[in-house]
Amino acid sequence: MVYIRPFNVEQWMDKYETKCTNNIAETCCDSVSLTDLMTLASKSTTRDNDHSENPLILSLSKKRLDYGHIRGSPTLLTNISTLYSTSTSHFPFSQILITPGAIAANFLVFYTLINPSHHVICIHPSYQQLHSVPASLGASVSLWKLQETETSWTADINELKSLIVPGATKLLVLNNPNNPTGAVLPLETLMEIRFLAEKYDITVLSDEVYAPIYHSSLSPPPPSFLTLGYKNTIVTGSLSKAYSLAGIRVGWIASNNPDIIEQLAQARDYNTISVSQLDDTVAAYALSPSVRRALVKRNVALCERNLEILDSFIKKYPKNITYVKPVSGTTAFVKFLNPRSGKVVDDVRFCESLIRDTGVLFVPGGHCFGVDEDEFKGYVRIGYACSTENLNFGLMKVGAWIEGGGMDYV
Ligand SMILES: Cc1ncc(COP(=O)(O)O)c(C=O)c1O
Repeated sequence: MVYIRPFNVEQWMDKYETKCTNNIAETCCDSVSLTDLMTLASKSTTRDNDHSENPLILSLSKKRLDYGHIRGSPTLLTNISTLYSTSTSHFPFSQILITPGAIAANFLVFYTLINPSHHVICIHPSYQQLHSVPASLGASVSLWKLQETETSWTADINELKSLIVPGATKLLVLNNPNNPTGAVLPLETLMEIRFLAEKYDITVLSDEVYAPIYHSSLSPPPPSFLTLGYKNTIVTGSLSKAYSLAGIRVGWIASNNPDIIEQLAQARDYNTISVSQLDDTVAAYALSPSVRRALVKRNVALCERNLEILDSFIKKYPKNITYVKPVSGTTAFVKFLNPRSGKVVDDVRFCESLIRDTGVLFVPGGHCFGVDEDEFKGYVRIGYACSTENLNFGLMKVGAWIEGGGMDYV
């Protein structure tokens, strides 16, 4: 049997997500219902409108529930292809595959392309799947570690050069925007990566599930790796995070290389005939240009507003809480220091005490993102893209807990 490390962040969420009273750990932009989605699209201010004639409801109710289009419906594929098209080039929809979420998309890429002779480089910290799955397939994995300074999490291109093993490095895995830091790899770095990937014949997998949540502090936002013109690029995306629709379980894989897509499609035949036709229909509607614009506008505004609330909270406790303010995405990677000792807290004990005493859920950063006992000790991932009301209330409880001495013994 394959040995695969337990997926700590998913196990943590499974254990506490439904038991907490304030979930400030979640990475999705505040999820929407179908009614919310249709209201957003119609620009109406009331949620009680009669949506029975909305094209979404009509097509959901009339849809014959067969397997549908195996690789994804033409409407959905077309809407996704516009995400990667530029004024000068149209991204072909035949180079996209629909999957049950980005988690299945990433898994399929590793399962299909990686074997024990390969070396994989993965940006770090990031979603554990991105390094644990290739390791479970027998590949040797090197972590390209982001460096934390007072103002940013940055990737050092010289460090990447030193990790490349010519002839053995098969895949470079990026996560842009990054979970958990909320940092981005800027265009200059992406261009340097592209140059190295081409030189050493490395395929690039860029997990871009948090695009296009770019805050206005970030100018200009980085492009998708797919638009840089490097053939052996694979990008994964999803409806879960930026589009608030994790419940429909729709993600995708897009590549500039049609042969890679065919290879992935062959492996996909064995575990995904098609995604749910209801999910595909909702996804196609959400990504139709006008609905997508409304959804992204709502979510960028939500993230910017909520980040300011989180920032004010953190600034109230300068001796106990430090972080690099995110510029994108939905998460912040925050360090907590014990008020008595001045040392970093034990992040698991901290999060467990917090949920027990207040009902507020955070994610322990060392436990879920570190690869050894000490890495990211004392860090906590905060998902601030929940409803503003939930964030305000949850942080108020955390503040009262800190001031009441709750953090003194963790
Ligand atoms: C970087 C990253 N990739 C993929 C996923 C999986 O997302 P999905 O809901 O699309 O499967 C997550 C979920 O947290 C994530 O953070």
